[in-house]
Amino acid sequence: MESYRQRLEGYFSEDPRLQRLYIRAKEAFDKKDLIAHGWDHTYRDIINAIRIGETKGANMGIVLPAVILHDIGFLYNPDPKVHNVVGAENCAEWLEEWRDEEKNHIKACILTHKGKYRGFPFEPATLEARVVCDADLLEKVGYIGLLQGVRTFVEFAHSSDPKFRALLTIAQTLAHIEDIPLYTKTGQKIAEERGGFLRTTLCKKALAELAEYV
Ligand SMILES: [Fe+2]
Ligand SMILES: [Fe+2]
Repeated sequence: MESYRQRLEGYFSEDPRLQRLYIRAKEAFDKKDLIAHGWDHTYRDIINAIRIGETKGANMGIVLPAVILHDIGFLYNPDPKVHNVVGAENCAEWLEEWRDEEKNHIKACILTHKGKYRGFPFEPATLEARVVCDADLLEKVGYIGLLQGVRTFVEFAHSSDPKFRALLTIAQTLAHIEDIPLYTKTGQKIAEERGGFLRTTLCKKALAELAEYV
């Protein structure tokens, strides 16, 4: 059976613009060297998006450029609260080879990629945007979600908010992010197989241990 990596290469063969975008984005993220929102994260999101998008029959010509670019906001501004808006505002310069109609759809996917996450008011309006959103949300699920969560707040501690230098603050933040609904059946199924938002449960236990140090 073809691996998801091979599926990605198949998309590159069908549309060489995608490969050029992928290489350019990877180079930019590698140069920026972010702890959590680097290429390591975006690459898993790309694979998640192929997995979810193909089963939903989504237009992968929109999903793939959108997921490749979904976190470019962090290349311009370290503030996580605005990274979706900054990414949407700046995506056109990455998409010169795409038609205006495609650019607008990709831009909307970037803007809404946080879905129902608290503090982000924009919800995805198209299937492609929901696929990008669920692909990214899977990074908060299971044991990957726990590791990626800790790594995210280490990044934020260095780039935008020193309060996350304290393990207690990281645990408090992760423990209070309740389950966020995924939009697609495939996304929900993968999330369920991985035990859901394990980090919430595990961080609640960590908080009980950390209470002994207060
Ligand atoms: Fe993001
Ligand atoms: Fe992301």
